[in-house]
Amino acid sequence: MESQNEAAVVKETSVLADPPVNFGKLLRSRREEAGLSLVALAKKAGLARSTIVNLEHDLTAPSPQTLRRLASVKALRLCEIVKTDDGHRIEAWFCDAYNPMAMNHAMVRALNGPGGQIEQSYLYLDPQSACDWYLLCNNEQYISLYRSQVPLAKIAERIIKESKGIGIDVDGLGCGDGKTETELMQRLADLVPSPPDLQLYLLDISHVLLSEGYRTALNALAPRRIPVFAIHGDFNDIARNPLLYLHPTSIKRLRLFLMMGGTFGNIRDEPWFFRDLAACAERGDLAVLDCGLARGSVDDPAQIRNIDPAISAKRPADIYNRFLTGPLLRHIQGCRHVTLRTELSTHCPVPGSYSIENWATVEKEYELARQFLVWRVKRYDLDKLSLCLSNLGWKTLQAWKYGPDKLAAVLLVQKQ
Ligand SMILES: C[S@@+](CC[C@H](N)C(=O)[O-])C[C@H]1O[C@@H](n2cnc3c(N)ncnc32)[C@H](O)[C@@H]1O
Repeated sequence: MESQNEAAVVKETSVLADPPVNFGKLLRSRREEAGLSLVALAKKAGLARSTIVNLEHDLTAPSPQTLRRLASVKALRLCEIVKTDDGHRIEAWFCDAYNPMAMNHAMVRALNGPGGQIEQSYLYLDPQSACDWYLLCNNEQYISLYRSQVPLAKIAERIIKESKGIGIDVDGLGCGDGKTETELMQRLADLVPSPPDLQLYLLDISHVLLSEGYRTALNALAPRRIPVFAIHGDFNDIARNPLLYLHPTSIKRLRLFLMMGGTFGNIRDEPWFFRDLAACAERGDLAVLDCGLARGSVDDPAQIRNIDPAISAKRPADIYNRFLTGPLLRHIQGCRHVTLRTELSTHCPVPGSYSIENWATVEKEYELARQFLVWRVKRYDLDKLSLCLSNLGWKTLQAWKYGPDKLAAVLLVQKQ
């Protein structure tokens, strides 16, 4: 590990983080400076000569995979890890579109509007919300029933088998406090010679949680010589922001997208997200998805209402209250009282899945009560989820059920 210093803010991670309009011109001049013919560059990057000709003439825009391949040709200097004056590697990046202050303003506007659905990411945005989430996911009961039960050693074993000896870049999408992500890296490192050819990229929308996750990962992984990078950004932007889909040394490395702690079940439209993710992945790249499983068939909502304790209880468990009501109580002007209730929705994009929705009734002075959908978490039929992902280009390699009554699962899927 080159640096355990405080992360520095990076101005420019690569020219590709902000690709110039005339990318073709830049590519041509860098190729010529490097003394590479079209054929030589095509060979080095694993691209067709015609692809490079088209790019240089600005006839086509580079796809994420093409950019990753070009970025791997060091002589082009398209993607360089920036170093500070004293030689330390810079390990925290800010995506262009990442603007927590603007997101906070948008959240306050939405909360003071007529009601309706609240963007899920807002729940983690303000510092108190982030701290409340931290307390919630470090609650003893949650740890003993779920977090400590994830079969990370087995998952790591299969990942190493699939990596066939090449280095692995792990992208922790929505890493939160980073504990599970860090532990998986440790289990991976246990299985390969030291120093391990592993890198961890942590990505989160919450500045507070990402800082915490980064520190946790650095403390545990620096002694094992595993580099850790922190990326402040929105994972929904993955196919639109080179900082998210490009890694400085990404060619001939396996990429693993990691979504732990139910983050996958919070995504509004999973097929939409996985189409984007597929565009950013190379054939053979992996994704690890942690999710809750359906308690019954969506064809029989009454049965689900009876047997799924999260819905039959009619309101969320007490430990969730502070986290879910906090943003409403803090930001809605004139808010007098908030009551939560739980509902079932079977209108979900992944066949066979349903959503547990927490709605808040907000009572204000001199106004009619408003309804906000504050939290949504989905439960899946494992076979139908696998089929859906397979139709989007992600084949399930293995699934592990865990937790009470084996009603949570981790899926390992591979880009075809
Ligand atoms: C359910 S928590 C899971 C945290 C962690 N992976 C774990 O295992 O405990 C979801 C995390 O995703 C982050 N998040 C939510 N929406 C996001 C988005 N659009 N982009 C990036 N991070 C997001 C939240 O800040 C939070 O840290």
